[in-house]
Amino acid sequence: TQGHWITGVRPGEPPLIKGWLPYFGVAFNLQKDPLGYMKFLQTKHGDIFTILLGGNYITFILDPFQYPLVMKNHKQLSFDIFSRKLSEKAFSIKTSMRNEDLAHDLHVAYQLLQGRSLDILLENMLQDLKQMFEPELLKTTNWNTAQMLTFCRSIIFESFLLAGDKEKIISELKDDLFKYDDKFTYLISDIPIELLGNVKALQKKLINSLTSENLAKTQEKSEIVQRRQEILEQYLVQDLEIGAHHFGFLWASVTNTIPAMFWAMYYLLRHPEAVEALRDEIDCLLQSTGQKKGSGFSIHLTREQLDSLVCLESIILEVLRLHSYSSSIRFVQEDFTLSSENGNYCLRKGDLIALFPPVLHGDPEIFEAPEVNKFYKIVNDGNRS
Ligand code: HEM
Repeated sequence: TQGHWITGVRPGEPPLIKGWLPYFGVAFNLQKDPLGYMKFLQTKHGDIFTILLGGNYITFILDPFQYPLVMKNHKQLSFDIFSRKLSEKAFSIKTSMRNEDLAHDLHVAYQLLQGRSLDILLENMLQDLKQMFEPELLKTTNWNTAQMLTFCRSIIFESFLLAGDKEKIISELKDDLFKYDDKFTYLISDIPIELLGNVKALQKKLINSLTSENLAKTQEKSEIVQRRQEILEQYLVQDLEIGAHHFGFLWASVTNTIPAMFWAMYYLLRHPEAVEALRDEIDCLLQSTGQKKGSGFSIHLTREQLDSLVCLESIILEVLRLHSYSSSIRFVQEDFTLSSENGNYCLRKGDLIALFPPVLHGDPEIFEAPEVNKFYKIVNDGNRS
């Protein structure tokens, strides 16, 4: 720990909530109802407070006007250190993360998720989805049923992995990844991975299935995965270390995307009028670009065309507002005072600092009736704010 146990709260530091369990702190309250518990703490302690969570002291900033303070002080509040520590534990990415050149090259490769490369990714994904769905639809004579989360996991996973003939490998990899992800809250804490049941064994299995040797068996790879493979081969000798990097990237790419797809489908299924609006919007676009739907026709949509689908955009934005629990977390590299109009707060070296937007997203002063999904209203009003 960083001395909080000995010193308690020092003058100028945010209120500290340690819970009644040593070390675990408030882990169980947060696990049970993250949003409810954060709102409860906000009512009791205000917009900034520190909690003890599985050995980590995390200061939460809930006032959106203070978000920029956290994002811009890179030197004192480091994403890199946080992500390296997490990568070491969660993905077993070891010494290589201390290699600045490797980290830099991998960062530069993120450009392959933007611009022209993103166009290629989108086009490939569209064609893969067609390849996945068309044969199924053509041979289906009756309705098939599946659990919706299972369906979303399969679609995202298979279209991301582009390996049509390796169904068994994909399905095993998929099941293992989600079993692993279920334990992720514990992985972020300081609790040693060896104490988390079968998590270490699952981690080893996942890394092993994504080594260069095993990845070489997949049919095609996107530009970014290929580039990452080249960079990793250039710096790393051990294939398991390469597998660990691919594992981290795979986890990052699917674990936020699947819930977003799930909730978007959930709301669409509950609002046929929204499906209608979305269908009209897509039909209009296809018509204006001279394209036809149905078997035998290939649909091509550029990024600009996708960006012009306001109905789709408002559905996705509302889903992210209501259901994304993504936080931004930084590592406090040195004792640091966060100065804002509402006061100065001393942060302690070695602690973590986090933004938790779901509290803002549920604030009735900012979003009227915040618990209601209003994408349909946004679409009808033509108001995209
Ligand atoms: C709905 C979808 C997604 C959401 C909500 C989401 C959210 C986030 C958030 C909140 C962060 C941390 C940023 C920070 O603290 O500054 C992050 C990081 C990251 N995400 Fe995503 N993400 C999504 C989709 C994806 C996809 C599709 C990919 C890859 C193809 C991806 C790859 C990454 C990577 C590699 C990082 C770490 C960046 C770094 O090391 O600097 N994410 N994401």
